[in-house]
Amino acid sequence: MSDDTAGTDLTVLGNVDKIADGQLADYYAYPDDLQRCWVRGNMISSLDGGATEDGKSGGLAGPGDRAVFNLMRQTADVILMGAATVRIENYSGVQLSVAQRQERQRRGQAEVPPIAVITASAELDHNSKFFTRTEVAPLILTATETVAGARHRLGTLAEVLDASGADPTRVDPAVALRILAERKLFRVLTEGGPSLLSLLIENDLLDELCLTVAPILLGGVARRIATGPGQAHTRMRPSHLLTDDEGYLYTRYVRG
Ligand SMILES: NC(=O)c1ccc[n+]([C@@H]2O[C@H](COP(=O)([O-])OP(=O)(O)OC[C@H]3O[C@@H](n4cnc5c(N)ncnc54)[C@H](OP(=O)(O)O)[C@@H]3O)[C@@H](O)[C@H]2O)c1
Repeated sequence: MSDDTAGTDLTVLGNVDKIADGQLADYYAYPDDLQRCWVRGNMISSLDGGATEDGKSGGLAGPGDRAVFNLMRQTADVILMGAATVRIENYSGVQLSVAQRQERQRRGQAEVPPIAVITASAELDHNSKFFTRTEVAPLILTATETVAGARHRLGTLAEVLDASGADPTRVDPAVALRILAERKLFRVLTEGGPSLLSLLIENDLLDELCLTVAPILLGGVARRIATGPGQAHTRMRPSHLLTDDEGYLYTRYVRG
């Protein structure tokens, strides 16, 4: 019988080292001395590729995923979000402990990272937690056609910026990143949603993807973690693969 795997080295993932207390952060460190935005995506998917359960992603998460999610927030300079996720998941500002803030100060970062939201409509409720439960003003990255009205409605609650390129009705993600870079917000973390992630992928702006695979089958009509009109083919290389007692996988893939 022929051996179809000849020439391919396959490895069994096994009982390897436990990560010591305090060392998990090393696995999620951003590159040193960044002079441009480095964009990390953090998403969760079911085993069968679903990004939502009953319209939200929370049902897929477990304690390990929440820990990794918080750890990534801790090191980011800014959290970049699509407006639909902010609305659907009722986002508030980032909440960090005293110890986490001290650690950020030690690294020369602001105590709390702001959330920057990409939106064409700028339809964000000024009474929502996004504005009322945050210590730092969010950034609203919107389109040329919308910016004046958005500034009028939300300008006292957020910094409202024109992030359009050639198309005045849309945000150009490269312009959005340029705005963040001008503020030295180089360590970018995006938590989605799928439209924003796809926009970044299609424009070749995603440097790494941290994907949690939940040991759950969903079936149904759940979307993938990235869905959009364009298509890309970007080769990624694995950086690490972690697991926990519940069977979740925590992957980190970097471009290149
Ligand atoms: N599994 C996961 O890890 C995960 C993570 C996050 C979210 N989710 C889920 O994903 C769903 C939401 O995702 P989504 O893909 O519908 O939305 P999304 O990516 O969060 O946001 C889409 C919105 O972003 C704005 N936008 C995107 N591209 C734009 C551009 N070029 N210019 C201007 N604005 C732009 C638009 O906002 P306006 O409509 O305001 O113009 C658009 O409606 C929710 O169900 C959420 O629970 C899952």
